[in-house]
Amino acid sequence: MNTKEYGYFDDAKREYVITNPRTPFPWINYLGNEDFFGLISNTGGGYNFYKDAKFRRITRYRYNSVPMDSVGRYFYIVDGAAVWNPGWKPCKTELDSYECRHGLNYTRITGAKNKVRASVLYFVPLGVKAEIQRLTLTNLSDDIKRLKLFSYAEWCLWNAATDGENFQRNLSTGEVEVERVNELTNERVNGWTAIYHKTEYKERRNHYAYYAVNCPVDGYDTDRESFVGLYNDLNEPQAVLAGHSTDSLAHGWSPIASHYIEVELAPGESRDFIFVLGYEENEEANKFAKDLSTFNVQLSTSLGERDHHIINKVRAHEVIERFATVEAVEAAFAELNALWDELLSKYRLESSDERLNRMVNIWNQYQCMITFCMSRSASFFESGVGRGMGFRDSNQDLVGFVHQIPSRARQRIIDIASTQFPDGGCYHQYQPLTKRGNNDIGGGFNDDPMWLIFGTTAYIRETGDFSILDEMVPWDNEPGTEVSLMEHLRISFDHVVKNVGPHGLPLIGRADWNDCLNLNCFSMDPNESFQTTGNKTEGSKAESLMIAGLFVYCGRQFVDLVESGKLSVERSSQVDSRKLREEIEKMCKAVEQYGWDGEWYLRAYDYYGNKVGSHENEEGKIFIESQGWCGMARIGAEKGMPEKALDSAAKLLDSEHGMVLNYPAYTTYHIELGEQSTYPAGYKENGGIFCHNNPWVIIAQTEAGRGNDAWALYKKIAPAWIADQDLHKVEPYVYCQMVAGKEAARPGEGKNSWLTGTAAWNWLTVSQHILGIRPTYEGLMVNPCIPSDLKEYTVTRKWRDAEYVITVKNPNGKQRPDQPTVLPYTPGRHEVEIVL
Ligand code: BGC
Ligand code: NOJ
Repeated sequence: MNTKEYGYFDDAKREYVITNPRTPFPWINYLGNEDFFGLISNTGGGYNFYKDAKFRRITRYRYNSVPMDSVGRYFYIVDGAAVWNPGWKPCKTELDSYECRHGLNYTRITGAKNKVRASVLYFVPLGVKAEIQRLTLTNLSDDIKRLKLFSYAEWCLWNAATDGENFQRNLSTGEVEVERVNELTNERVNGWTAIYHKTEYKERRNHYAYYAVNCPVDGYDTDRESFVGLYNDLNEPQAVLAGHSTDSLAHGWSPIASHYIEVELAPGESRDFIFVLGYEENEEANKFAKDLSTFNVQLSTSLGERDHHIINKVRAHEVIERFATVEAVEAAFAELNALWDELLSKYRLESSDERLNRMVNIWNQYQCMITFCMSRSASFFESGVGRGMGFRDSNQDLVGFVHQIPSRARQRIIDIASTQFPDGGCYHQYQPLTKRGNNDIGGGFNDDPMWLIFGTTAYIRETGDFSILDEMVPWDNEPGTEVSLMEHLRISFDHVVKNVGPHGLPLIGRADWNDCLNLNCFSMDPNESFQTTGNKTEGSKAESLMIAGLFVYCGRQFVDLVESGKLSVERSSQVDSRKLREEIEKMCKAVEQYGWDGEWYLRAYDYYGNKVGSHENEEGKIFIESQGWCGMARIGAEKGMPEKALDSAAKLLDSEHGMVLNYPAYTTYHIELGEQSTYPAGYKENGGIFCHNNPWVIIAQTEAGRGNDAWALYKKIAPAWIADQDLHKVEPYVYCQMVAGKEAARPGEGKNSWLTGTAAWNWLTVSQHILGIRPTYEGLMVNPCIPSDLKEYTVTRKWRDAEYVITVKNPNGKQRPDQPTVLPYTPGRHEVEIVL
């Protein structure tokens, strides 16, 4: 086995340290956790956006580009004949040393060449709409170094979708301003230089972006061709090779921002440059500058003399001035780190297993924050234009995040519920900027409604905030249609009840969790998308066992809520929990009678009422989703169904790298199954290892008391145990959506890292089901299901206004306690010992 390592974990610093820039794929990180975001690879590639990766893209990225991982924010250093970048790319000049440290919402890239060290710290300060780049240049030699420094960022014309296609317009609209503020104080020239991107600002946009540095410059460029040259690439920009910029002003074509600074460093001297890449909005009435005679400002605009549309830059100036000093940057950086201290203190594990601690205490929780912020919008696999916030995705994501910042999860629930239709159906996605449902995809995914119950009940168990049920929430964002959130939950439940098929099982609609199981699609036209093409639902018998399990599991969560005894009379009278129970019971019966294949749960019935996921099928005999969900819900427990299903999954689905989604994978296109059967065998939803649904099986295993099995599968999926980084290919510190399955060409190869419900589900699995610390309406439940050789661990859990220090001891090698313990909620600190 090839076990080349590209880096290591530095747990004390909560960083992953990449020591070789030639990673098998760009290994990225996310900057920002509020409204302003950046994606940054280990070589500085990536881009920024404000709130919405589609509508407010600030800098460009070229997906599908050669080489991959371009464009980015680059610094070029010219030192005599040597031209290099601290992150190796784009020049790819061999560095004397290279290191990239991806930390929690920050990245530090350090390169050294010919006794000059350049270290760049990238982060987004809390509450600020800008990325700070602190570049520290150090002369490690005994001679004076005369260096030339160039920065580079390429603007995106705001809408990332049209930026990539409407060239007849785009290549004529680009506009910029350059502002040089020089002050002569104490014989030194101080000040700063900012390049503004103002395309469409004079008419319909009230927002602008800027890239500033906290010093005067020796030149700049804002026109890409002038900087790069007509025949050059970013690895050899003409201006850099020539050793000076051209002071170009972009008139259309491709506006960029590049500063040029000459730097002289004495032996041993270090100098910091603070670059600020930001975004601001102005009110319509106030968007243009009134007084242009500001002292010592030299302003150039691409519109020239007749420009009456100079940006009112007050807001940008505030940020630029605030971060003019290293002290200010350090203070903001400390604030960011303190936030993460606080977020990670909510659930802290001490155990003898370093890798488990690493997943639980750092990386899994961090990834949950990122998926909460991004849903499935922007990664190196998600273009940021295709998908906004997913209805089901965001509900799952918030369950992994709710303990960190409950108030943000609360707002998210309201936003999501506001995109629901009056019949309980839902927009499958919405745009974060507008919060409106996305018409391109529409609705009709029949699992969606149940996820709202899943998300909301998790929020209330965490916070005890029942008042969220009183929130008045509209249907489809239509003012005047508001009803209580409780009503949304009731209708969500009913949506499943009212949409059952001939076997009394839930009709699947467009698809369920498995977006690619399109049982009503029947598409023969390669130009249409499986996700959106007209469905043939009329007369369809297509039913889903996954939704059946989901309904029973989340339906019970709804019952628990209604029967918690903590609802107001008004809320509890809205729902008759006996009725809910009856419906759940009915569904269980239907599954037992029509959803059981003898050794495992069926997956579905197709349009015609034929079985999917049965031993009678030639391919796709067994699927993971129904084993997971019906197993978690323990449907048919008296008949031993969940245990049998788990045994079958272990026999047929499991592999070295985890459980595949279905087996055997489809090798031909089944028009009645849709997109799933279009994927080559072993990939994605066709026999790939979906890291997202392995946890469902793991939880089902813990429900069955099988701690050893649960642990074995948990370790196969968790990044901290990745053995072969070359094979795995994507980042070794976060989960990816899919690992190629046992029937694939390269089993074990990971794809689609970062933005996946895998993060939340594994968090739920390890924190609540394996380590077993679970918030309930009654109190904090301790109900571990662990490997028998785990002897002891301690979890410190901050829950509401209490802190529980729970030590679990397992002297007799058990897998779970005889009885769960429920610690009543009392504010204050409690130390508890539980012996299995
Ligand atoms: C992918 C799914 C995804 C869907 C919607 C499919 O091609 O395989 O994982 O959810 O597209 O974008
Ligand atoms: C990715 C989607 O974001 C998610 O909603 C879906 O459940 C999975 N793919 C499986 O198809």
